[in-house]
Amino acid sequence: MQLTDKVIAVTGGARGLGYAIAERLGQQGAALALLDRSAEALDQAASTLKSQGIHAEAFVVNVADESSVITAFDDIVKRMGAISGCVNNAGITEDALLVKARDGQVEKRMSLESWQKVLNVNLTGVFLCGREAATQIIKAGHEGVIVNISSISRAGNAGQSNYAAAKAGVHALTVTWGKELARYGIRTGTVAPWHLGLLRLK
Ligand SMILES: NC(=O)c1ccc[n+]([C@@H]2O[C@H](COP(=O)([O-])OP(=O)(O)OC[C@H]3O[C@@H](n4cnc5c(N)ncnc54)[C@H](O)[C@@H]3O)[C@@H](O)[C@H]2O)c1
Repeated sequence: MQLTDKVIAVTGGARGLGYAIAERLGQQGAALALLDRSAEALDQAASTLKSQGIHAEAFVVNVADESSVITAFDDIVKRMGAISGCVNNAGITEDALLVKARDGQVEKRMSLESWQKVLNVNLTGVFLCGREAATQIIKAGHEGVIVNISSISRAGNAGQSNYAAAKAGVHALTVTWGKELARYGIRTGTVAPWHLGLLRLK
């Protein structure tokens, strides 16, 4: 996709991988809608991008909350015009073993709260933002791209029942959307990074 002046939404865009993705897309001419939880972090990220000559605007959102996501995507279109792409990057971890036992005694278990918290952000968040992005792209009548950020943990990783299940779900969403959305000119893909901290240690 030619990126000049195309509006791309990046969730979790205030820091980390999301910010780096936004910066790279901005350097190639895209206008960035940064979506994240903290207004302060978003303003900081947007102003750093603006200092590089990149058009970036901030939108406070909780990707796990349907009305928050709908409002944010409506606001993007009102303030920046129709979107052409969305990077579903926002994600969290809350690691724990399913069951931790010693000498036959169960000491700890992953709580239902931890399970749901991670599924809500990492899977439901991708569903909600992907749905709104596809809706806006189809309404605009042009082609678009949705990129979902998964993880190599999607194949299963000890201590990450919640995270691994969510990321495997993200892959399933990507394949499903590829089959459903191609007819509207929307391409869908997944990037599954390795642990970036480990890369830095090398
Ligand atoms: N860092 C890694 O090693 C690594 C490896 C594989 C995959 N990933 C994936 O890459 C993505 C980004 O990871 P990161 O390391 O940059 O994380 P990070 O914690 O540095 O940044 C995540 C961003 O998402 C935002 N966010 C979290 N919950 C949110 C919510 N409910 N609504 C809106 N925004 C929310 C946070 O505020 C934060 O700005 C995640 O999906 C993560 O699972 C990261």
